[in-house]
This record gives sequence, C-alpha cells and structure tokens, in this order.
Amino acid sequence: MYFTEKVMSNLKDSIIIFGTGGHAKVVFDILMATGCKERIIFCSKDESKQEFLGCIHVFQDNFSSLNVDTGIVAIGDNWIRSQVVNFVRTTNPKFKFIKAIHPRSCISNSVALGDGVVVMAGAVINPDVRVGMHVIVNTASSVDHDCILEDFSSLAPGATLGGNVAIGEYSAISLGAKVIHGRTIGRHTVIGAGATVLHDIESEVVAYGSPCRSVKRRIKGEKYL
Ligand SMILES: CC(C)(COP(=O)(O)OP(=O)(O)OC[C@H]1O[C@@H](n2cnc3c(N)ncnc32)[C@H](O)[C@@H]1OP(=O)(O)O)[C@@H](O)C(=O)NCCC(=O)NCCS
Repeated sequence: MYFTEKVMSNLKDSIIIFGTGGHAKVVFDILMATGCKERIIFCSKDESKQEFLGCIHVFQDNFSSLNVDTGIVAIGDNWIRSQVVNFVRTTNPKFKFIKAIHPRSCISNSVALGDGVVVMAGAVINPDVRVGMHVIVNTASSVDHDCILEDFSSLAPGATLGGNVAIGEYSAISLGAKVIHGRTIGRHTVIGAGATVLHDIESEVVAYGSPCRSVKRRIKGEKYL
C-alpha cells in the first residue's frame, strides 16, 4: 500500500496491532476500553487485506514504511507471537511494545508486568507476581501470590494458578486448567484444558488430566491451538 506524505504524518502517532485473529480482536477491544485515543493500524501476513475492524491494515513486511514505533503483538500462539516480536525488534530496534491491560482486571500494585503483556477482563493477579514479556493472562484467569510467568507464556480463559507457581517460557496453561501452589511447569509445555496439576511438569511435553500427567513429548513451536 502506498501512503502520501499527508497520510504518513497522520499515522505518526498511531499504534500497530500485529495480528488479525480472534486474539487481536480482543486486544483491540481492550485498547478501546482503556480509552486509547491513538489511531490503530493492523499488520499481518495477509497481503490482500486493506482494513480490519474499520482500521487500516498493512502487510506486515511493509510495516517499517509506516514510521510507527509503538504497538503490540496480538497473536495467541506463544511461539508464533515470539517470531513476530523478533521480526519487529530486528526491523525496528526502537519499537516500543505497549501493554494491553483491561480496566476490569484486578492487578496488585506489587505485580511486575513485562512489555507487550496482555491482561484480559476479569483476570486477577495477586501480590508479588512477576509477569514476563509478551505474556497473555486471559479472560477470568487467576494468578496467586509470588507466581512467575516467564516470557511468551500464556494462561487461557479460566486457568488458575495457586501461589508460588512458576510457568516456563512459551508454555501454555489451557482453558480452566488448575495448578496447585508451589509447582513448576517447564518451558514449551502445554497443559491441556481442564487439567489439575499436582506435581511439577517437565519442559517440552503435552500434559493433561486430573491429576495431570505428561502424555507426549512436544517439539518447541508445535501447534497447540
Ligand atoms: C492438550 C491438547 C493440546 C491436546 O491436543 P491433541 O494432542 O490434539 O489431542 P487430541 O485432541 O488428538 O486428543 C487425543 C486424546 O487425548 C484426549 N485429550 C486431549 N486433550 C485432553 C484434555 N485436555 N483432557 C483430557 N483428555 C484430553 C482426547 O480425548 C483424546 O482421547 P481419545 O483418543 O481417547 O479420544 C488439547 O486438548 C487442549 O487442551 N488444547 C488447549 C485448548 C485451549 O485451551 N485453548 C485456549 C483458547 S484461548
């Protein structure tokens, strides 16, 4: 897409949302709910798309021509999200990743939130939790005191972590799964929907059930959504 100089100067103070899937729609809604006044531009790999949700859509590979250096990667799959973050960082090292925090989430003042984090409506994050970069804390999920969510991990809607739980990088805790206090989930692991985790779960596995057990090995980046 070609932009005139006038359009370019109007776009300067915009925010880019990378992604046009369901997760991107929710992130857009969160930004609207926070009263975001900036123009939103969507970027994705879809070359044919001209607009999305009434906003301009730009082919992802052309995003540097926009001269916009603020935004968020709104892609639900943890591995794909990290690939797009790396692409953005490499293309524009000055790019600033914003957080999307729903005003009706409940986050203790002592929580540390990394760049690019998304916290959805109804989520609760209790004291002294550390949330790494580009983590998703989904609708009505609950993270109790002193948990650590490493970079690019995610909690699906209704997932619950007891206190002092550690979730490794890129790991996903699926819909309604529960992890009791003090347990550690490794890296690149997927905990299946509805699981009850009573013991530590190693890296690079798919695990589910109540009690939750490792069912199979998982190659990092393997599709799970
Ligand atoms: C864990 C998961 C990734 C496994 O997917 P999969 O490897 O494709 O597994 P399949 O669907 O092939 O199922 C294989 C078997 O495991 C069982 N199974 C799969 N997930 C299960 C779960 N969470 N709990 C109990 N059993 C499960 C299936 O019933 C099936 O059993 P069967 O062979 O007797 O019929 C998937 O079930 C899951 O939970 N996905 C996350 C969904 C989610 O939270 N999305 C979030 C959207 S925001």
